[in-house]
This record gives sequence, C-alpha cells and structure tokens, in this order.
Amino acid sequence: MNVLKGKHIVLGICGGIAAYKSVSLLRLFIKAGAEVQVVITPSGKEFITPVTLSALSQKPVVSEFFTANTGEWHSHVDLGLWADCMVIAPATASTLGKMAHGIADNMLVTTYLSAKSPVFIAPAMDLDMMRHPSTQANLKLLSSYGNHIIEPACGFLASGLEGKGRMEEPENIVKYLENYFSRKCDMNGKTVLVTAGPTYEKIDPVRFIGNYSSGKMGYAIAEECASRGAEVILVSGPVSITAKHPGIRTLHVESAREMLAECEKAFPICDVVVMCAAVADYAPANPVDRKIKREHQDVPVITLVKNPDIAATLGGMKRESQMLVGFALETDNESHNAHEKLAKKNLDMIVLNSMRDAGAGFGVNTNKVSIYHRNGCEIDVPLKSKADVAIDIVDEIVKNI
Ligand code: PMT
Repeated sequence: MNVLKGKHIVLGICGGIAAYKSVSLLRLFIKAGAEVQVVITPSGKEFITPVTLSALSQKPVVSEFFTANTGEWHSHVDLGLWADCMVIAPATASTLGKMAHGIADNMLVTTYLSAKSPVFIAPAMDLDMMRHPSTQANLKLLSSYGNHIIEPACGFLASGLEGKGRMEEPENIVKYLENYFSRKCDMNGKTVLVTAGPTYEKIDPVRFIGNYSSGKMGYAIAEECASRGAEVILVSGPVSITAKHPGIRTLHVESAREMLAECEKAFPICDVVVMCAAVADYAPANPVDRKIKREHQDVPVITLVKNPDIAATLGGMKRESQMLVGFALETDNESHNAHEKLAKKNLDMIVLNSMRDAGAGFGVNTNKVSIYHRNGCEIDVPLKSKADVAIDIVDEIVKNI
C-alpha cells in the first residue's frame, strides 16, 4: 500500500542550489499519488522556475501573498489547514532562522506558522554555514517544536568544498515520509521510563569506575517509544549522544545512586520501564575530594561497596498495571543467568545480549538479542541495527500493555 497516496503535501522550496532536486522530489510525490502544492520563496525563484513546478504539480505555484494584477489573496491559513504534511526542501540557513524565530515575511514562513500538520525540514547549505552555532541552535529549536529534521548528507557541495550540507536525496526524503506515515501509534498516551548509558562511580575528582556503554541501545529504545506516541523519560548516564525526538525528556545523571533517585521519582507515573543502562554494581566506599597523588603515597587500596540494584528496587515497587523490562549483559551461562535475573528482579521481560556474539553489546551500532517473557514466551532477534532491535523490543512490550 502506498501511504502517500491522496496525501496533501505542501512543498516549500527556498533559494539554494539544491532547489534543482526539488523537481525530482515533486515528481516522486506526484508519482506516489500525493497532491502537491508548491510554495516557493522569492529567492527560490532565482534557482528554479515556477513554470516547471506548476506543470509538474498541476497547480499554480504560490510565492507572494497577493497575485499582483488581480489582487487575489493567497491564504497561508487555508494552505496550512489543507496540508497533511509540509516538506521544506531545500531549507536554507536564512529560512531556518525565520522559521525558528517566527519572522513571517514570506508566504513559505507564514504557511509554516499556520501548518497544523507534521513538518519535515531538509536543510541544504555549505558545510561551514551548516555547522555554525546559529544554524545548529535554530535546528535544535525547530526540532524542539516537534518538526522533523531530515539531516543533510556529506559529499561535494556547490561551493566546491566537501562535507555535511548536501540536501538529502529526494528518494530518501520520500522514504522518510513513507516511514513516518506507516509508523505505529501503539504507545499513544503511555509514559515510558528508559535508562541508558553507563554510570560513573567517583574515586576522586579525576577518576571513576565506569564501563563501555555508549547509550546507543537505550537511546534507540527511547526514540522508538517516542515515535510511537509515548511520553518518554530518559534517565541517562554520561554518553556523547543526544535524544532527538521532542517526546523525550532526558535527565542526565552520573552515578547509580543518582540514577536510582530519578527512577524512583518517575516510576509512579510510568506505564512501562526499560532498564537498559549498564549500572555499575560497585562504587568506591570513600570517594575523596582531592586528586589522589601518585608521588605521595603507596598504591591506594580502593574499597568498594555494593550499589543499589535499581531494577530490583523498582521490581519491588511495581503495580499490576506496570511493565518492567530489564536487560542482561552476559559473558557465559547467558540464558540461565538472564532467566535468573528475570525472576530475582521481578521483571516482566528481559532482553539478553551476550559479549560473546560479534557485533553485539557495548558501543557497536548493532545488537543480537534474545527476549524472554515472564510467561515463558521467548524470541531470538538476529544481528541488526540497534534501531531495528529497538523496534522488535518495543513490539514485544506493546503486546503486553
Ligand atoms: O549502551 P550500548 O553501548 O548501546 O550497549 C548496550 C548495553 C550492552 C549496555 C545494553 O544492551 C545492556 O545489556 N544493558 C544492561 C547491562 C547490564 O548492566 O546488565 P546486567 O546484567 O549487569 O544487569 C541486569 C539488569 O539490571 C539491567 O537491566 C540493568 O540495567 C539492571 N541493573 C544492574 C545493576 C544495578 N546495580 N542496577 C540495575 O538496575
């Protein structure tokens, strides 16, 4: 089934070299059965003619607020209401700035401000403009408003330089929209708590006990739940990645105790909890405030104490209506140990990944897991991207809520 068939798409085109790609994008939308209304900025018309665009879309192209000779008013409000989605491709740095700050001085930005539909933004510009803090801040703002940013690709740019700034290929923009319109909304109204990343347990101000968790698996689960309509609270240890979906509220913590405190606060309002973090089992008993000096003493002995078990603590607080999902990272006796944790921590489901499987576990972009339900049901998920593994895990969760 073609999910774009019959969809009303407002295609916004700004003034950039990549505007030539908008013609292919328009053709692909029409081919998919969508109805497309092109809105072009005044400088967009310097790069591509409205005649080409109106011939392909079978509709007059809108650019000005009024038609000069007839005085006919083009209603951005009507257009905003008509649209099932708005796609701005290419989006220039200037238009991104106007959209982010509500500077409604052309038809494209006024239509954007009136749109009630999802908005997809495909930036295109030179690499230095792209990475400028003001562009990045505008993109962050636009994303925080719930817009979907279709990241530009890396490659040769019109400036002759090479780097990130090429508008995503039209075929991929179409795929992005198809994925969006065929997505599942089966977590609407649910609140999900996800833990991700490592914990750092302080030895002194410059040293800690930690582990290799990158947060990729937990963040992928948070993104998947949010994309299906859940409100997500992501309690994250120190990682170098950020959550993109506006439905995700990230709470940054460092130690296991800090993670426990945030989880205990959030737990009562959550329908589902997914404990993907690699929580340190032990912490130094006596962290010190000054750096332990190599010169002044013998090799220090660090006494460890057991950290609280966050999953088990929440397992003890769990209500009938809540679902608690744990992970198990094992190096041997994998299945046995995972089943033991499932029972001991009062979990409803556990996701096992083994350090013995190539491409699975810490740091990598892929994972291979087995999912064990409390009711005995078991599923093996072959090696795939963490984003795809997250889909399978969330599918299993949704069957049980
Ligand atoms: O972050 P990535 O680089 O993408 O890697 C992903 C991952 C390997 C970290 C992830 O897939 C994973 O396996 N996470 C759990 C790692 C772990 O700590 O496993 P465990 O078997 O030690 O713990 C079992 C469960 O108890 C886990 O849900 C863990 O979050 C929880 N736990 C553990 C110790 C503790 N003190 N408190 C806990 O809540």
